[in-house]
Amino acid sequence: MSEQHEQRKVILSGMQPSGQPHIGHFSGALKNWVQLQHEFDSLFCIVDLHAITVRQEPAKLRKATLDFAAMYIACGIDPEKSTLFVQSHVPQHAELAWVLNCMTGMGECSRMTQFKDKSAQHSENVNVGLFTYPILMASDILIYNADLVPVGADQKQHLELTRNLAERFNHHYSPTFTVPEPYISDVGGKIMSLQEPTKKMSKSDPNEKATIFLRDGDAEIRNKIKRAVTDSGTRIVMDEAGSPGIANLMTLYHLTTGMSFAEIEASFASTSGYAPFKEAVADAVATFVAPIRERFLEIRNNEEELKNILKRGAEHARDRARKTLRKVYKKTGFVEL
Ligand code: TRP
Repeated sequence: MSEQHEQRKVILSGMQPSGQPHIGHFSGALKNWVQLQHEFDSLFCIVDLHAITVRQEPAKLRKATLDFAAMYIACGIDPEKSTLFVQSHVPQHAELAWVLNCMTGMGECSRMTQFKDKSAQHSENVNVGLFTYPILMASDILIYNADLVPVGADQKQHLELTRNLAERFNHHYSPTFTVPEPYISDVGGKIMSLQEPTKKMSKSDPNEKATIFLRDGDAEIRNKIKRAVTDSGTRIVMDEAGSPGIANLMTLYHLTTGMSFAEIEASFASTSGYAPFKEAVADAVATFVAPIRERFLEIRNNEEELKNILKRGAEHARDRARKTLRKVYKKTGFVEL
């Protein structure tokens, strides 16, 4: 990589390959990553090691990992600009996680709200991996000395732990890790369920009508939007508390047309009823998703090329990760041969 590349600040982020990528992934993360990759030395991974903290079917996990990789690219992540890779292809993440495990208190992990939520959700499988999940996430970040980590607000606590671990290691041994800053990117970009607009849109919603998947066809998208739950009002105004369904459709319209909320309100001020607005949102979202879906299918259907991209990404990531891990092992007191 060039000199200039070395000097830019490093960002790293990742997503779990579970379920199917949907428009919330785009709005909350991918859209920002695509912008950031022009400015930063960027690493984007698919965190399959994290995914197995809940039960996964092997064939589905394998497929979802490739689907997410293809979707990153279809949404605009350029593998020539960014390092795009799969977490399990870079074993140093898990190796660093072990060292950090030995520097993390039980109490620190048990305070994590995501652990508490997930262990309640998956009470039949509260495994140790779920407990130490944030330590592996810290390793993902620290092994590349990332300066900035674009994440949703729900990950802020994990970032705080990451910062603490970096400082702890630096203090206990000697300066080694960059202490990363969170870059909270989902402000104004949160897409809610089309069926229960007070809940976040989710890949695992049992009601398929609640979620716009990035590979949904035109007709499917239009149908889902027309059937989106709204209230019995008639006005198109941004009122998240009073009219969450319309607010969510406005967010989707904003995302897919670039219009501000004020512009949207103004342009629908004289229409009566929600139907014409839903029609417009359906058109906008279908038009927006179509080229992403087409690129996705093209990339996904050439698995050999996709795997080559991931191979190159993994090689680059491993070169960098190896250097950090070597320092860590040395400082820890492991014998070098
Ligand atoms: N825990 C993150 C999430 O659920 C995913 C993740 C894993 C991640 N490792 C990361 C995000 C490193 C940013 C950086 O969203």
